[in-house]
Amino acid sequence: MEKFIVTGEVQLQGSLKISGAKNATLPIMAASLLCSGVSVIHDVPFIRDISAMQEILVLLGAKIVREGNALIIDTTNVSKIEIPEHLMREMRASVFLMGPLLGRFKKVRLSYPGGCDIGPRPIDLHIKALEKVGAKIRERFGFIDAEAYKLTGGDIHFDFPSVGATENAMMAAVLAEGATIIRNAAREPEINDLQTFLNKMGAKISGAGTDTICIEGVSKLFATEHTIMPDRIQAGTFLMAGAMTHGDVTIENIRPEYLFSVLDKLEEIGAHITTAENYIRVKAGELRGVDIKTLPYPGFPTDLQAPILSLFTIAKGTSVITETIFENRFKHVDELSRMGAKIKVEGRTAIIRGVSKLTGACVAAPDLRAGGSLVLAALAAEGVSEIESVYHIDRGYEKFEEKLQSLGANIIRRRT
Ligand code: EPZ
Repeated sequence: MEKFIVTGEVQLQGSLKISGAKNATLPIMAASLLCSGVSVIHDVPFIRDISAMQEILVLLGAKIVREGNALIIDTTNVSKIEIPEHLMREMRASVFLMGPLLGRFKKVRLSYPGGCDIGPRPIDLHIKALEKVGAKIRERFGFIDAEAYKLTGGDIHFDFPSVGATENAMMAAVLAEGATIIRNAAREPEINDLQTFLNKMGAKISGAGTDTICIEGVSKLFATEHTIMPDRIQAGTFLMAGAMTHGDVTIENIRPEYLFSVLDKLEEIGAHITTAENYIRVKAGELRGVDIKTLPYPGFPTDLQAPILSLFTIAKGTSVITETIFENRFKHVDELSRMGAKIKVEGRTAIIRGVSKLTGACVAAPDLRAGGSLVLAALAAEGVSEIESVYHIDRGYEKFEEKLQSLGANIIRRRT
């Protein structure tokens, strides 16, 4: 096991490039199964979730070589359609494999997905979408068996704009016979990136980024090359670290429109934001608490709820955060309280009373984004903090401590 040791009260200064987006890479790696051939994906982050997805693809028969920031995925010999249970439990995103395996082999067997413990992670919307394009699905003994004599276009309406279910539906529909419409689709930028990748493979998709996505089924897809979009959640986390430490941080390779809701809130809080086409800079100001409600894109992203809650612990006044997306996404609160934060959680709402300063403590990362928020708190706190269970953080933040060190942070990784 490993931990971070952080000495706080260092103002972060400087600029950095962020890696490719975890939540764009995972569905795109799954989508590479839709054809036989060698696809090249650039700007793939070095994080544990990518290694887990790589392990699954290799178990299914793919050959994968990493060359620097690129993954070379040869899916010629993919023949298996069953995903091992231990790998399904390790990562929620393994559910993305249903669409591509159904699309290519008309069959898939998997157990219920695992992932971060941020709430029940049902897949009813995924199943409803796949049934709409002709899949017959049986759920028995903890396993899901899906198969289709053939896939035919359908009209899918989501009760909730689920990111994963939208992506699974797109990947199942691209090789279906006829047209598919996805209504109340998720609008996250990562879905645009998946649409771009699939269209490069020869698919005919339009509408990603809006709530209605249209897919004209084709008979065959081809391997292609693609560069993953930058990780907006990683960018938002570093910008908040800059604001929290009264520093001056620039992210060099991020389009501001991916983070409009976040930048708007940071300005409301008192941070000074400057942007250009591919660049965001945050300079500290006097931080004051505001209210936030997490929402599907383009609303405030749930993945930045934990980091901004950390910021609120040392902002003037009281803040209220309502987490509307996941049921159990305040696991960072108990750990932050050990650092002197004053937070009360009532159901899906957290009420944060700002204090003048946090103090360093020994804490443990309960999940990926909560872990990131604890590091931010430690960077701002007086004294030394130890953050255990950094394997959670390594799931989604590439070389987190190295990037923070490049901004002047006093953070080291240690074996426990
Ligand atoms: C994706 O998860 C992201 N993961 C999550 O990022 C992100 O928080 C989430 O979208 C919301 O933006 C990846 O892209 C790999 P959802 P996903 O389906 O697809 C309910 C991170 O930290 N729901 O949009 O699982 C569900 O319970 C991770 O990087 C159903 O009810 O999210 C949740 O309450 C965490 N039935 C809500 O929808 C379903 O069939 C949002 O889930 C599917 C989802």
